[in-house]
Amino acid sequence: MTPVRVGLVGCGFSANLHIHGYQQLGRERCQVAAVCGVPKSDAEAFAEKHAIPAAFGSMDEMLAAVDLDAVDLAVPNYLHAPFIIAAAKAGKHVFCEKPLTGYFGDADTPEDDLIGKTVPKRKMLQEAGRRCEEVLKAIEESGIKFGYAENWVYAPAFAKLWRLAKTAGGTVIRIEAEESHSGSHADYARQWRTSGGGSLMVKGSHPLGAALQLKRWEGEEKLGRPIRPASVMCEVGNLTWIEAFEQEKEHYLRTGWRDVEDWGIIVVKFEDGSVAEIKAADTTLGGVHNYLEAYLSNARIRANINPNDSCVAYAPEADIFEPEYISEKIETKGGWTFPSPDEDWHQGYPQEVADFIAAIIENRQPVSGAALAREVTLVLYAAYVSAEEGRRIDLKPILG
Ligand SMILES: NC(=O)c1ccc[n+]([C@@H]2O[C@H](COP(=O)([O-])OP(=O)(O)OC[C@H]3O[C@@H](n4cnc5c(N)ncnc54)[C@H](O)[C@@H]3O)[C@@H](O)[C@H]2O)c1
Repeated sequence: MTPVRVGLVGCGFSANLHIHGYQQLGRERCQVAAVCGVPKSDAEAFAEKHAIPAAFGSMDEMLAAVDLDAVDLAVPNYLHAPFIIAAAKAGKHVFCEKPLTGYFGDADTPEDDLIGKTVPKRKMLQEAGRRCEEVLKAIEESGIKFGYAENWVYAPAFAKLWRLAKTAGGTVIRIEAEESHSGSHADYARQWRTSGGGSLMVKGSHPLGAALQLKRWEGEEKLGRPIRPASVMCEVGNLTWIEAFEQEKEHYLRTGWRDVEDWGIIVVKFEDGSVAEIKAADTTLGGVHNYLEAYLSNARIRANINPNDSCVAYAPEADIFEPEYISEKIETKGGWTFPSPDEDWHQGYPQEVADFIAAIIENRQPVSGAALAREVTLVLYAAYVSAEEGRRIDLKPILG
């Protein structure tokens, strides 16, 4: 078997999550043959750390110099659509981080423009929809495999939840899911121009993606077609802009959100009448808080993605466990904690990468693909319209 040759685009936080997945597959199945990043010196440092043979300062240079089968896009959100289209045109399979695309301003919007405060969300929805169609057209015309890096779809607890739900056979009448923590580390997440939205976009896309996928699977199993979202309602807010909070001397929560929300809630109604309650926040202490609970007509199943209690520890002082890793974004290692034995595995990162490579080898599309990616983007932007206009948005004319 000839190994699949992957080029990593980006060498930051999420590239670090993906590289371990490729390495675990073994060099006879897959090789990360090159990496690029900005500045190039970051890519060179990443290449040295992970024994990647070549490093570049741009995707174009990398594609021109190295013979690759696929690219992995671990770059800021506003670069996803143009990079997918360029890679597809070059005939490369694409694995792309969430979201598929969004609205990041127009060609003449200045870098520092706070479009989240000025541009109507309805215009954003229209533009995001247009970009989704461009991306899907490029994927379809090139015939590439497209993997949407929604790790929740691959997280072992969620995969088990689906197997239990399928076996139970009851109707999934309600889904409740959340992704929250004390605030994104990355600067791009603080401004709409680079992130395409706030907590709902950056974090809520995960529980939303998993909830939409669950109803897709349920529909395919029982009806031979996905059960689609029919309408959406939403509220957003900036809890770190509350005056009393701003006046506090010490902040444990990250601040600096410029024109994006740091909290949001979406209610999706599906065409069969079932509902999903999706929450996201950058205002939650205690580490990453990721779960999905499915309420069936004959069962109730909860997938704890992070934290989970496969290991529980106590230390009377925070430094007792130093320098051992506990889990993502906890503020202290003191008191009771939930040390993750393998956080990447629990969150589905090696599994999503393994499915992408398997899809290329087996000549099929990955489990998490373009249809889910498009649906997540459009439901999210329709949710922003709902929050701005204060009413329920019908998704049928938007999703088709
Ligand atoms: N699935 C998850 O759990 C998860 C977690 C974090 C981030 N993400 C997603 O991953 C993506 C990247 O986020 P991150 O946190 O890794 O950001 P980051 O800032 O840590 O890394 C971004 C990388 O993009 C590279 N880059 C920027 N401009 C570039 C260009 N023009 N050409 C090539 N490379 C370029 C930078 O060199 C950097 O290495 C985002 O889309 C985000 O939504 C997903």
